[in-house]
Amino acid sequence: MKILILGAAGMIGRKLLAHLAANGGPGGAPIKAVLLHDVVDPVPPAGLPFPVEGSSGDYAVPGVAERLVAGRPDVIFHLASIVSGEAEARFEEGYRVNLDGARALFEAIRAVPNYAPRLIYTSSLAVFGAPCPDVIDDDYLCAPASSYGIQKAMVELLLADYSRRGFLDGVAIRLPTICVRPGRPNAALSGFVSSIMREPLNGQEAVLPVEEAMRLWIASPRAAVSYLMQAATIDTAPLGARRSLNMPGVSVTVGEQIEALRRRAGDEVARLIRRAPDPVVARVVGDWPQRFSATRAIGLGFVGDADFASILETYITEDLAPARA
Ligand SMILES: NC(=O)c1ccc[n+]([C@@H]2O[C@H](COP(=O)([O-])OP(=O)(O)OC[C@H]3O[C@@H](n4cnc5c(N)ncnc54)[C@H](O)[C@@H]3O)[C@@H](O)[C@H]2O)c1
Repeated sequence: MKILILGAAGMIGRKLLAHLAANGGPGGAPIKAVLLHDVVDPVPPAGLPFPVEGSSGDYAVPGVAERLVAGRPDVIFHLASIVSGEAEARFEEGYRVNLDGARALFEAIRAVPNYAPRLIYTSSLAVFGAPCPDVIDDDYLCAPASSYGIQKAMVELLLADYSRRGFLDGVAIRLPTICVRPGRPNAALSGFVSSIMREPLNGQEAVLPVEEAMRLWIASPRAAVSYLMQAATIDTAPLGARRSLNMPGVSVTVGEQIEALRRRAGDEVARLIRRAPDPVVARVVGDWPQRFSATRAIGLGFVGDADFASILETYITEDLAPARA
């Protein structure tokens, strides 16, 4: 199996590569080669058990996607994206990368004769906008309220049509907010969801821009990778024309997150969270859905995290402890 990871230098891309190295390809398939691509140089760790080729460049520039699919990868993980805060701040760039780039990729795939790879697209809960019911079920109206969410929803529609026409075999997974994100803060409006856990655990101050009552739909990076692998493996015939799936998650308030941090790491650590309200973050993230039934995905074998304490533990064991060691 040949695998292309587009957006490979990002947080989920790096976690996915580590998973492939440890566990093999989707369904345990042996991996023949992995192609990593990102706008910044993807730097693979040494000693991977399969050949890896890295390339860098803006995938939305004409000609780049054609080169990426010329080797006919069997599975494509399309993770490359401008995140929510940047898509809001840089309108044209958001549409160019998130929408035009995806369309260029799909067109490049369509141009390869007798080729229809499995393509997994990381969509987002931001395809839903307020007003949202307490629990969003699988039939709920997709009505985004941000540029990022609109771009994700448009790519979902393209993916459904290119799949219906047999040009590719697509699955769009609508990821919850991923927490705890390792590394440095990014430009996602939901960045604080990870910062208020990660920074205090690293002995640094974190800024909380929203009320503690805000409820969020969260999954760990480990769960996100398991969703990608499951999406690469499932039989897509039962999906019919509806190729987008709401992913399982854990519904918690910011206050419950902080309480879990306090229980795990103590009062002194939890006191490193400083309140500094930001109305833009509060409005946009506050409009995102707070809970999903995810019935279809669960029926297809997607398994989420048990609870928020285990999400916190995943960060401590997989990222914090190795970084300290
Ligand atoms: N992390 C989350 O909370 C979350 C939630 C929902 C959906 N998603 C989606 O999952 C995917 C991966 O998320 P992540 O957290 O790893 O994000 P990330 O920002 O860490 O990674 C995205 C990668 O895409 C690359 N990229 C951006 N523009 C590019 C371009 N023009 N050409 C090539 N590469 C480009 C970036 O350099 C980056 O390495 C994204 O599509 C994101 O929208 C993430």
